[in-house]
Amino acid sequence: MIPKRGEPIRGRRVTLRPLGPDDLPAKARWSVDPELVGLMSGHPEYARTGFDEAMAETRRWWEARVKETTSEQWAILGPDGSLIGSLDLYDLSARPAEPAAGPVVTRRAGLVPEIYESRHRGQGLGTEAMALAIKRAFEELGQSGFEVEVLPDNVRARRAFAKLGFMESGRRTGPDGIEWVVMVLSAASPGHRQGRGR
Ligand SMILES: CC(C)(COP(=O)(O)OP(=O)(O)OC[C@H]1O[C@@H](n2cnc3c(N)ncnc32)[C@H](O)[C@@H]1OP(=O)(O)O)[C@@H](O)C(=O)NCCC(=O)NCCS
Repeated sequence: MIPKRGEPIRGRRVTLRPLGPDDLPAKARWSVDPELVGLMSGHPEYARTGFDEAMAETRRWWEARVKETTSEQWAILGPDGSLIGSLDLYDLSARPAEPAAGPVVTRRAGLVPEIYESRHRGQGLGTEAMALAIKRAFEELGQSGFEVEVLPDNVRARRAFAKLGFMESGRRTGPDGIEWVVMVLSAASPGHRQGRGR
């Protein structure tokens, strides 16, 4: 499977580059971490029990995503150039290849940030990574907005999204009874932060 092409995006402290097959073991390794899985899903018990199972699932997810034209998967490299996390953008607005082919399909895209190790969180690195990806989506892909769902007690993530200009638009309860805070960001909103962490 050939990863999607894309130039690295360099920020002040983090760099984004397309998430490739060599990055998958690190991503899989952290899907067995109940703390991280709990923050992402509300279900710490969903953490994979073994690396092989996690790796197979991560590879299936990646192989499906890289075929899509409406998603982007970025590896987040920290200040020393090592892989510290990943960023999944999905449901990006589909654009016709030729302007004459039809109108642009506009919708809010999803965004899932994942800084793998707790020692790398709380330093503004995830926020800076999201700012870089959002700036590219707005300026280069013509994306009009984003919508994310965050667990109410994931205060750091809610604060990170708020720093980027996301506003709370309501609450949504999933089929498993878990309540999510819905936050939205519009390209037209004046306050969204561009390319900065703290
Ligand atoms: C959510 C995430 C991307 C945020 O990135 P980050 O770089 O760690 O966030 P920041 O360091 O910019 O912190 C954001 C804010 O939360 C605050 N914060 C940091 N740690 C905190 C904690 N433990 N509790 C509450 N607030 C905290 C920070 O002070 C900061 O606010 P401030 O700039 O006003 O001081 C990252 O922490 C992460 O990947 N977490 C695990 C996965 C996750 O929760 N993903 C989101 C799923 S929706």
